[in-house]
Amino acid sequence: MGLKINVGTVALLLLLALYAANAQSGVFDITKYGGKSNGDITQAVTKAWQGACQTAGKSKVVIPKGTYRMGAVQFNGPCKGRIEFQIQGTVQAPGDRSYFKSGSWVNFQRINGFTLSGGGTFDGKGSSVWGKRSCSGIKYCGDLPISLRFDFISNGLIQGITSLDSKQFHINLLGCKNVTFQHVNIIAPRTSPNTDGIHIGRSSGIRIIDTKIATGDDCVSIGDGSRDILVQRVTCGPGHGISVGSLGKYSNEEPVVGVKVVDCTLTNTQNGVRIKTWPNSYSGTASNIHFENLLMKNVDRPIYVNQAYCPWNQCKAQSPSKVKISDVTFKNIKGTANTREAVTLVCSKAVPCQKVLLSDIDIQYHGKDGRPTFQCTNIKPMLSGKQNPSPCTVK
Ligand SMILES: *[C@@H]1O[C@H](CO)[C@@H](O)[C@H](O)[C@H]1NC(C)=O
Repeated sequence: MGLKINVGTVALLLLLALYAANAQSGVFDITKYGGKSNGDITQAVTKAWQGACQTAGKSKVVIPKGTYRMGAVQFNGPCKGRIEFQIQGTVQAPGDRSYFKSGSWVNFQRINGFTLSGGGTFDGKGSSVWGKRSCSGIKYCGDLPISLRFDFISNGLIQGITSLDSKQFHINLLGCKNVTFQHVNIIAPRTSPNTDGIHIGRSSGIRIIDTKIATGDDCVSIGDGSRDILVQRVTCGPGHGISVGSLGKYSNEEPVVGVKVVDCTLTNTQNGVRIKTWPNSYSGTASNIHFENLLMKNVDRPIYVNQAYCPWNQCKAQSPSKVKISDVTFKNIKGTANTREAVTLVCSKAVPCQKVLLSDIDIQYHGKDGRPTFQCTNIKPMLSGKQNPSPCTVK
């Protein structure tokens, strides 16, 4: 009798536990909303999101394995509980640019407690627009949609996903707090215009860790209002490197404070680590920025501060930048340059760089046009440890 009750009780408890877990975990699979492989899932995924977002406790949106088409979508919060978006398959953007109205393809907005995971791929189908009409590679392609936009996300984790061939930026952050990216893959051809990997703006507590970025523009760019940013164990290449900026183009830009770029490898990139500000600019500041333990492999300009940044000839580089750069370290940076310009520090005549330290730099250059250079303009860097190339003469 005792045994019988025990088995029954255990079974009943198990059933109750399963039921409770199911009700609590709220799985919203797009196939339950009519989503089919090789079909358009715009409606299905929107409905699944709405269901999940209105669920208290934990909930999950699932895009199972398979290939799907998806138009521009907005996943808006606030939601009633923590929400996970699991993409296991591949979703493809429409090829035609006229389809997009909001400047983004996939937009997550105003969510507190958010995970994006699942091992799947966002395919932006960028090759259908790169190099077309106004977007020929010399002009700015700002009107094309960004693949993944995160606006006002707090306490988020984005892991194990791939962004392929975005039309413009792959990933953009605005107003985010405490968001970690890890094991993210970003892929686009070297020649794809304006395909920045991850752009951070007006956000704090952002970590980009163990991430691979191969793209046509900056791998990571850190814009105004960025605070407490960590970029660690990121590989970049091809691409334009890891950048702070560009800064000073707009009025009311917020300071960039507290950036660490550590343990990264840059391969065949246009720049290694860079700080860029526009000439003839609005005022601003960039401080407490640290580049440490970096490996450069065949990088055009491995260490580069450029306060006369002016792509696409949009400005007359006559009056100097008013963005103040201070408290910057370049430490233990090794490898090879692809041009003579191994270390180039071009600061502003109006606000010279202050407290910039270079320590243990060893950048080789094997080209036939001479030895590698270390150029300083409007800066007196502090130096320690090994210096190759030999530093600019500090007057
Ligand atoms: C930051 O976000 C992560 C992921 O959602 C969360 O686990 C962690 O508790 C948050 N940290 C803080 C200090 O809120």
